[in-house]
Amino acid sequence: MSRWCAGCHNGRVTRASLNKQPHEVASMFDDVAERYDLTNDVLSLGQDRRWRKEVARAVDARPAQKVLDLAAGTATSSLPFARTGAYVVPCDFSLGMLQVGKKKHGWLPFTAGDATKLPFKDDTFDAVTISFGLRNVQDFDAALREMYRVTRPGGRVVICEFSHPTWAPFRTLYTEYLMRALPPVARAVSSNPEAYVYLAESIRAWPDQPALAERLRKAGWSKVAWRNLTGGVVTLHRGFKES
Ligand SMILES: C[S@@+](CC[C@H](N)C(=O)[O-])C[C@H]1O[C@@H](n2cnc3c(N)ncnc32)[C@H](O)[C@@H]1O
Repeated sequence: MSRWCAGCHNGRVTRASLNKQPHEVASMFDDVAERYDLTNDVLSLGQDRRWRKEVARAVDARPAQKVLDLAAGTATSSLPFARTGAYVVPCDFSLGMLQVGKKKHGWLPFTAGDATKLPFKDDTFDAVTISFGLRNVQDFDAALREMYRVTRPGGRVVICEFSHPTWAPFRTLYTEYLMRALPPVARAVSSNPEAYVYLAESIRAWPDQPALAERLRKAGWSKVAWRNLTGGVVTLHRGFKES
């Protein structure tokens, strides 16, 4: 059976507020950029590596295909697609994240761009994907429409984002982890622990699986479906642009 279901320090911003002003979000990621990848590994208890493998399977990039990895940050999320021989464009609006990425993976064509006003022509990419980025975009409906615009007819989208565990007892435990355990751990590892309080709050406020699927459909995507990972801690949503 298919597992897809149809249904301020130093005078700078230290964390974004939940209304996600773009300059605050970009500045917050500039601040965490240097230790971003390490902090992710620690806070996700190493699960992030497994999630990224599942995203790569869902995107199913092929040699010479064009893949846009939106909100790519340091491009850790872009690497699995690049390894398949696809042409991958990591795009982000945090110059701090892009600079750290460029130091590590300088061969990738890093591009500065805002998810709600993408610097690409219509129908450019075979696949557009975004990992742990959409939740941070203030007008994410506009981002979903932009992702649709730059995808070629017949192309696909894969969204990897934190979501809501489906089994109530696990959901309670996970919420406790987010609100109580994660902030002290972030204080020990991250250069900007406040950003990880924002992380916990923004996850709680994010639409659940069916609600996000509906937003994709409204943006024009068809055959929308989702798949839960780690009991719904993370969900992959996919959709297609009709030919
Ligand atoms: C949690 S990081 C994810 C980075 C990477 N995709 C990963 O999986 O590690 C979120 C990224 O979204 C970017 N972002 C947020 N809003 C954006 C927007 N409107 N346009 C472009 N990038 C955005 C941030 O700058 C940040 O680098």
